Amino acid sequence: MELYDYIGGETTIRNIVNTFYPKVLANPLLAPLFPEDMEPLMEKQFQFLTQFFGGPSLYTERHGNPMMRARHMPFPITRVRAEAWLSCMQSTLEEVVPSPEMRAVILNRLKGPAYFFVNQEEEA
Ligand code: HEM
Repeated sequence: MELYDYIGGETTIRNIVNTFYPKVLANPLLAPLFPEDMEPLMEKQFQFLTQFFGGPSLYTERHGNPMMRARHMPFPITRVRAEAWLSCMQSTLEEVVPSPEMRAVILNRLKGPAYFFVNQEEEA
């Protein structure tokens, strides 16, 4: 059984995405990077997280090879921003995923990519 099924599949991933982005937009370090219309991004993130956690390959079917680090290159991602992103995700998981063990597994899987996407030194 995939992590996707353990955490509750489509319903849980939708809840994560819908809870996460309002937190991102409320974070002064992250908000300036994001577009006004969040709907397309939220749909892509739903598709991406679905396949990232072992569900159907929705993102790749629609958008091709994820190449997520490359897709993040246009945006100045510092270590502090990666930590802010993970912190928004942690509080999202606390609201959406009841099991602390499951929350830890999910957050740990996202930590690698988040730090990997850092593409810029901290701003002075
Ligand atoms: C490290 C901190 C991160 C920051 C600051 C960040 C920021 C962003 C920004 C600004 C966009 C583009 C928004 C737009 O369309 O204009 C984006 C897209 C996206 N991000 Fe992140 N992100 C981070 C980490 C992650 C992580 C860890 C994941 C998943 C593992 C992720 C998944 C995605 C996906 C799926 C997209 C849509 C890509 C596409 O255009 O097809 N991001 N992110």
